[in-house]
Amino acid sequence: SVQRRALIASLIRDIPDFPQQGVGFKDITPLLGDAAGFRATIDELVATAPAGIDVVVGMEARGFIVGAPVAIALGAGFVPVRKPGKLPAETYEVSYDLEYGSETLTIHTDAIKPGSRVLVVDDVLATGGTLAATAGLIQRLGAELVHVSVLMELAFLQPRQLLARAGLGETAITALVTVAS
Ligand code: PRP
Ligand code: MG
Repeated sequence: SVQRRALIASLIRDIPDFPQQGVGFKDITPLLGDAAGFRATIDELVATAPAGIDVVVGMEARGFIVGAPVAIALGAGFVPVRKPGKLPAETYEVSYDLEYGSETLTIHTDAIKPGSRVLVVDDVLATGGTLAATAGLIQRLGAELVHVSVLMELAFLQPRQLLARAGLGETAITALVTVAS
């Protein structure tokens, strides 16, 4: 609802010059720490999800915080996409450029049954690199990425342009809060 999204937006804090000079960091910890705000966040993310989701995929670390409660609410499983060296069984991995540096993400090769309907949940869509990499891992497992739900989209970084170049131009993405500049 409009009211819930206004509450959510009001609890995201701007931290100037973090992690480096000139970067404005959007801090969601006040939102997570507020009972009504956290509840509103999960309820709104759940409301954006299409029917028939089998699995929610969340990306380490902040995607775990919002993704796992969404999975429970949808009656879906939860699959973690993790940073290197954390998953114990056989993995696929993909490397990509991040807003500040580079990163590798991994997933267990047997984490999702082929053909499963997958919802990706994360806190922030910034450059789109993390999402594009995650989508690549899901595709590699033969699963279907049917929707992406994020708390916040930093639209000024134009993530949808990168995602279109990565072949995700047709993928439905919902952001609860859009940051224009
Ligand atoms: C942040 C955020 C998103 C990602 C978005 O994660 O939680 O996952 O960046 O940026 P992008 O669209 O430019 O890829 P980060 O890798 O900083 O780590 P964290 O979730 O472990 O805090
Ligand atoms: Mg993250």
